[in-house]
Amino acid sequence: MALVYDVVVIGAGPAGYVAAIRCAQLGLKTVCVDEWLNHDSESSLGGTCLNVGCIPSKALLESSHLYQQANAEFKQHGITALSLKINIKTMQARKDKVVHDLTQGIQALFEANNVDLIHGRAKIIAVDKVEITQRKTRKKIEALSVKNIIIATGSSPVRLQQAELKDDFILDSAGALELEEVPKRLGVIGAGSIGLELASVWSRLGSQVVLLEAMQEFLPMVDSKLTTLAKRSFKKQSLDIRLGSRLVSANVKDKKVHVTYEDKTGEKGEVFDKLIVAVGRKPNSDRVFGEELGVERDERCFIMVDDYCQTSVPNIYAIGDVVGGQMLAHKASEEGIMVAERIAGQHSEVNYQAIPSVIYTQPEIAWAGKTEAECKAAGVEINVGSFPLVASGRARAMAATEGLIKIIADAETDRVLGVHIFSAQASELIAQAVLMMDMQATTEDIALTMFAHPTLSEAMHEAALSVHKRAIHIKN
Ligand code: FAD
Ligand code: NAI
Repeated sequence: MALVYDVVVIGAGPAGYVAAIRCAQLGLKTVCVDEWLNHDSESSLGGTCLNVGCIPSKALLESSHLYQQANAEFKQHGITALSLKINIKTMQARKDKVVHDLTQGIQALFEANNVDLIHGRAKIIAVDKVEITQRKTRKKIEALSVKNIIIATGSSPVRLQQAELKDDFILDSAGALELEEVPKRLGVIGAGSIGLELASVWSRLGSQVVLLEAMQEFLPMVDSKLTTLAKRSFKKQSLDIRLGSRLVSANVKDKKVHVTYEDKTGEKGEVFDKLIVAVGRKPNSDRVFGEELGVERDERCFIMVDDYCQTSVPNIYAIGDVVGGQMLAHKASEEGIMVAERIAGQHSEVNYQAIPSVIYTQPEIAWAGKTEAECKAAGVEINVGSFPLVASGRARAMAATEGLIKIIADAETDRVLGVHIFSAQASELIAQAVLMMDMQATTEDIALTMFAHPTLSEAMHEAALSVHKRAIHIKN
């Protein structure tokens, strides 16, 4: 007999597990189905983000940053680190433990909130029926009868025909998080978020890294003031970023990866010990339902939804990476909360105008809202203020003077339209910007707010003051 639920959530990534917990909190009888298996072929919740994405990448970024600081930055503090060494095995084991503890934590949260969990592959076979099979054997495990379905099946790395994955040599982002030694020469295809973060990890540990990026423009989604600074900074960090360089082929010969790429001067070759392919992600939307269900997908296979994540079938919702937009964990989770609350009869919304984005390089790049170019293209009159970190007392005390904070305000209303940060801890600072935009704050509101001294946050205050040429610690 089929088990009966108010809600089935398919996928336990940051979209699905958050949606399931919120549904259960609201009194809905909820089950979450997830098929993820870890290295040890055990079920592991948290999807891409916890298993092979946000969390392991940040764990390795942290370890490599510490190593790089000890190697190059301790000296200025009078600290000598004699015979500095890194044990990659230990670094990886720490990362694996962080992942393990967090994925187990989700299981505990499910238990605490009365969310049922089924490990297996879900397929929607009718608008109110979901069948679950064992991922490997395809044997049927369970049949569910449901009122509402939330599809949160996430995304997978885009593969390139020119660089098919090859164990130990040509890797996707998941493989690049598992390296057991530092490659002498590392190639990265794609200088987007994944490319830059993984390049940073291995370059800090000693790899010579070359990033081949097809586009002429570096990080087109980021404000151009920041990309200019970032490009300069990454060059100093020995990241060799080659723009306008499109991959032609990659082949493994004699335990090396031979890469051919094309730029405006013609075809070129490079030889690497490892190659990481990081050229975007595609939605996992092909196995979860058949065409007959009537759930529409766009030409790139993202599930089409309205502003409230409802699909073309009223009781079926889709959230997170599988619907596209910004493929970010926090955007996925907010959609999960919105959908759970709407199923429970509430009128929740996601503010898509104030999604924070962060690239965890050093300094970090973080932004929310519109860029100056976007405002100009939309014909919006703006005032712009900025404050360089070099003028911040705390940044100097931290020896983190690289970068700036830039605030864009509507010239008519003074409301904050966009905030762009290149600095240490930008990932933390950007939360203030999101709050400002969510609360529809003006730069005057920020100017009137008191910030603790000495903090990096004071740079946000000064940037807001500088919108109206009132900054104190720089010449306006
Ligand atoms: P996913 O996390 O992909 O989860 C989907 C889940 O659904 C998976 O567990 C999958 O096994 C399961 N599933 C799929 N199909 C089925 C089925 N038919 N039946 C049962 N289960 C199924 N984002 C950030 O915001 N910050 C970061 O710092 C960040 N860093 C990243 C670093 C890397 C290297 C990568 C690859 C991604 C990173 N991301 C980051 C992106 C982030 O991981 C995704 O945006 C996020 O995981 C999307 O969540 P999701 O729940 O939609 O999908
Ligand atoms: P991306 O879209 O950020 O970058 C991919 C890059 O590869 C693009 O610049 C593209 O021009 C380039 N490219 C594509 N084909 C190419 C080719 N043949 N040759 C050379 N370059 C090519 O995608 P990425 O980095 O794979 O990340 C996927 C998603 O994961 C992103 O959308 C991001 O939202 C998310 N993510 C978020 C992080 C964060 O929030 N810090 C960290 C990592 C990933």
